[in-house]
Amino acid sequence: MTTWPGYQPLKRTLLATLTGQVLEIGAGKGANLPLLPPAIDWIGLEPNPRARRTLSQAVAAAPGTGARRVLDAHAESIPLPSASIDVVLSTAVLCSVDNVSAVLAEIRRVLRPGGRFVFLEHVAAPPGSALRRVQRMIAPITRVVDRGCDPGRDLAPEIEAAFAGVDLTHYTAPGLLKIPFIAGTAHR
Ligand SMILES: C[S@@+](CC[C@H](N)C(=O)[O-])C[C@H]1O[C@@H](n2cnc3c(N)ncnc32)[C@H](O)[C@@H]1O
Repeated sequence: MTTWPGYQPLKRTLLATLTGQVLEIGAGKGANLPLLPPAIDWIGLEPNPRARRTLSQAVAAAPGTGARRVLDAHAESIPLPSASIDVVLSTAVLCSVDNVSAVLAEIRRVLRPGGRFVFLEHVAAPPGSALRRVQRMIAPITRVVDRGCDPGRDLAPEIEAAFAGVDLTHYTAPGLLKIPFIAGTAHR
């Protein structure tokens, strides 16, 4: 297990690698906007109307030289042409989507050959652990009260099944809960 560098430092490192035409799925209220490299062309996709309104305001106020726009859509059906995106970004989104494998297939579809899927996600604890049992138990509640979040998803095998070249690191955040995270890049 690699040492946890902290959520924000890890995000900063991943986002510094973004280049070209970037699609951020589940962009929320725009927490990642201040960390985006200035020259990229960025498209944010966000299905929640309230979050999307805040996101659009944040986009208008954000610095940057690249083009920026916001899409009203779910990542299971991305309204963009195939092979049109250099990098798809997802931070804390695959826990919330309705259909992980459909989202991963859509990400593959919109990426150009050689494009990258960059992700930072919290995942299920190891099989048999007490935390995993807790994650399974609270999922019906968090799905309702925490924007659809299911804390007990095994996302690493799903990403590895959807992409040929995956460079992925497992982390455990320190603290009482010891929440497991994965971060990395999958290549189209
Ligand atoms: C925990 S928030 C993370 C927001 C942002 N990515 C961040 O790191 O701050 C999860 C986001 O995923 C969005 N979401 C939920 N279901 C989705 C779907 N099917 N497709 C795309 N985004 C979705 C939610 O509306 C919410 O904005």
